Amino acid sequence: MPARGVEASLQRGGPVPVYSQIYDVLRASIDRELPVDAPLPSERELAQQYGVARMTARKTIDRLVGEGRAYRVPGRGAFVARPRLIMRVALKSFTEDIRSRGMRPDSRELSRLLVPADDEIAAKLELSPGEPVHLLERLRLADNAPIAIERSHLPAARTPGFLDDDLVGGSLYAVLEQRYGCVIDEGEQSISASSVGARAAKLLGVPKGSAALCFERLSRAGGAPIEYATSVYRGDRYQLRVTFDTDRAGR
Ligand code: GLP
Repeated sequence: MPARGVEASLQRGGPVPVYSQIYDVLRASIDRELPVDAPLPSERELAQQYGVARMTARKTIDRLVGEGRAYRVPGRGAFVARPRLIMRVALKSFTEDIRSRGMRPDSRELSRLLVPADDEIAAKLELSPGEPVHLLERLRLADNAPIAIERSHLPAARTPGFLDDDLVGGSLYAVLEQRYGCVIDEGEQSISASSVGARAAKLLGVPKGSAALCFERLSRAGGAPIEYATSVYRGDRYQLRVTFDTDRAGR
């Protein structure tokens, strides 16, 4: 287990936060080496080993616990969890999603700004509060009909020049990949029911208070968050489709 005894080398100040690098090491050990119920290094051991704050070490373990890869026993530490039945849901871009439904995707840009990350956005993107993020707000259309409003937050350090990008093709994911070399390889999305507020109603062309689906998505590229997005989809025009397979071995 690399985090015990072996001097760990981290790339500091690079695009991948230290916390994500430690997570990668632990996750690889869990996936490849450690049996179920094996102890993980304590927060103190991780902090010493990697020369990081205890908070950083805790965040790493928190993520593994949150993902069901590890569990905590009060007073004893964290241990490798039994593999779960996992639903792998493909998280498509809006462009891919709408095309797969046989429709033509389009976008109208509502705003594009450089803003300081507030506490919530900073926590999602694993930045410090106040660090610059690019905010992109778009009205998304399918066959010319408005269908969703999406607000994307991107770490500015990983997307230099984004304010001037012409977003050719209208796909943010394509721009992230082609211009910034950020291929989204992991993501989490939560979906909740909601109703449309006054501004969104106007943009989406529906009565205020109409049913809506709210998506919250965090996407990662190379282990680090690259986009935190919130989207409001028209409940009368959008039906969620999920394809999945099950994997007992994956954790
Ligand atoms: C989905 C996600 C958004 C993401 C978008 C990218 O709609 N909910 O978080 O920004 O896809 O789509 P595109 O590449 O078409 O801009």
